[in-house]
Amino acid sequence: MITVTRIGKHLGAEISGVDLSQPLDDNTFAQVAAAFFDNEVVYFRNQSLTPAQQIAFTRRFGVLEAHVRKESRLGGHDEIFVLSNKLDANGKAIGAQDAGRFWHSDLSYKREPSMLSALYSVEIPVKDGIALGNTYFASTTAAFNALPDTMKQRLEHMRNVHSYREYRLKNYAGQQEDERRGIRTVQEHAPTPEQLASVPDTEMNVVRVHPVTQRKCLFINEGHTSHLTGMSRAESVAELAKLYAHMTQPEFIYGHSWRPGDLLMWDNIAVQHKATFDYDPLPRLMYRTTVRGPAVI
Ligand SMILES: [Fe+2]
Repeated sequence: MITVTRIGKHLGAEISGVDLSQPLDDNTFAQVAAAFFDNEVVYFRNQSLTPAQQIAFTRRFGVLEAHVRKESRLGGHDEIFVLSNKLDANGKAIGAQDAGRFWHSDLSYKREPSMLSALYSVEIPVKDGIALGNTYFASTTAAFNALPDTMKQRLEHMRNVHSYREYRLKNYAGQQEDERRGIRTVQEHAPTPEQLASVPDTEMNVVRVHPVTQRKCLFINEGHTSHLTGMSRAESVAELAKLYAHMTQPEFIYGHSWRPGDLLMWDNIAVQHKATFDYDPLPRLMYRTTVRGPAVI
């Protein structure tokens, strides 16, 4: 029997009583999907999944994406994006280790941004008995709801541009700074010209209506939004800073402390997320699958 236990104030729930390595019958899947969209972030503990089983489960929600960064895909399973600070026998990174430095939602710079992402934890760094590398999630539906009506109406007329190019350059600059300060010990790949050119900038509404829950949410994020349309860069920076501060208040956040065998899914339309890099050089290995969402307007 499925049990859903809400953990955070506005988001985050643990689902127990489900073995994701087995195909779910339609009734069970419907309960999982309903709990997922209602809670925006859900997790299942103590799972034991092969890459093929993770792919099979997440594919129930829609079409899976293969990430722009081909070097970080899992061999034989293009749908799995590897997040890790581990190195292969030749000293090369086996996955992306810089993902999630800023608040963001996955692939939000695409015309069809992700609907959801699922992260399966294979290896979790632990120090003095405490798991490191927490991931934080912020509900943009709760943040939108909490705004004054005048602000809601103003934002509904605004648009913003998401830029993969600006994100990668900003991320890489931050990473090099970490290396200079000795925080990170592993060299990351610089973004290639092909990667930077492969995803055009996308303009979209600041306020989105969630296609499943019909909740309104803020579809701007620190990682990918380059600017708000129709104002100067300085005005845009100031306006975005205020909105980001509002969206990331503690009451809108659920922080996840990982255990090996967790399968955690988040709604990329309703929430944003952010990683922490407090564990290097302890090894961490995660597998991500991502389901494509509907086109933005
Ligand atoms: Fe992410």
